[in-house]
Amino acid sequence: MDRQISQRFPFPAYANGWFRIAYADDIAAGEVKALHYFGQHLVLFRDEEGEAHLLDAHCPHLGAHLGFGGTVDGKGIRCPFHAWLWDGEGRCIEIPYAKKIPRTAKMRAWLLVERNGLLFTWYHDQDEPPSYEVPELWQCGSSEWSPYQIRRWTVKSRWLDMNENAVDQIHFRYVHGTHTSPETEVDIDGHILRCRSRMKMGTPQGEITGGIDTTDYGPGLQTVDVSGIAETLMVNTSTPIDEDTTDVSFAYAVREVDGVSATRGVGAALVKDLEKQMAEDIVIWENKHYYSRPLLCDGDGQIGTYRRWMKQFFSVPILRGDD
Ligand code: FES
Ligand SMILES: [Fe+2]
Repeated sequence: MDRQISQRFPFPAYANGWFRIAYADDIAAGEVKALHYFGQHLVLFRDEEGEAHLLDAHCPHLGAHLGFGGTVDGKGIRCPFHAWLWDGEGRCIEIPYAKKIPRTAKMRAWLLVERNGLLFTWYHDQDEPPSYEVPELWQCGSSEWSPYQIRRWTVKSRWLDMNENAVDQIHFRYVHGTHTSPETEVDIDGHILRCRSRMKMGTPQGEITGGIDTTDYGPGLQTVDVSGIAETLMVNTSTPIDEDTTDVSFAYAVREVDGVSATRGVGAALVKDLEKQMAEDIVIWENKHYYSRPLLCDGDGQIGTYRRWMKQFFSVPILRGDD
């Protein structure tokens, strides 16, 4: 059995795609951070000119972790052990005590894109280049939208269970207590999956019709536009930490007029409700089993469509029975 394929999920642990490894504000110029994603040790640093870089964590010289004591020097990061200097492309550019830099003095540099206030890296288990781009979200950087409020969870499950939630229209009623099960339409456009749901929601002002429009851009990034209560954008990202664990984060922004949100109170209530929903979902995700051939019925909606879409992000064929 492929080492990466566990009993719980019939396919590799890591899908191919763009994944958030930090928020842009997590790291200032001159800072260094140790990270652990995709079962690997990584180091993130922002050089003195403000550009962020991601490298494998361990120095090829004698193996020190650059994330623990490494320091930014100009455009590079200096190893804490013997002071070799590595640039953002993973090339050794200086050894203070040697006359010659060994030709093979290179380490792996990961592709990094800073967009929408997040830092994304490209993961591909066959080292292929990106097959799609991280979208620019028009709300980000707009003065009409509030800064992000960020929430983060470590969940013992994988992204595909979490993203499947948006198309699983029935669970909204039984897990989250919506008054009806939403009407959900799904369409697929290459690496993009759009899901449009309309549902009745209970509010202190009475029942209203709310909308949730979810767009998945590959496995690592999902945006959710919530309408009906408050105009809210969520930027949801999930990044595998290891084979069993995912770093899930939601960043919320609310539309504001002249710096004041007309719906700030409602927006705050919505955020609270979304946190409640997340807690409700996590219990299910962490304890469920992934069936390749689930026993579906006619009211289940678009779960099959979602599963066909998500297979494109694995470079090995899905195991027998998963179709
Ligand atoms: S281990 Fe990094 S310079 Fe020696
Ligand atoms: Fe849910």
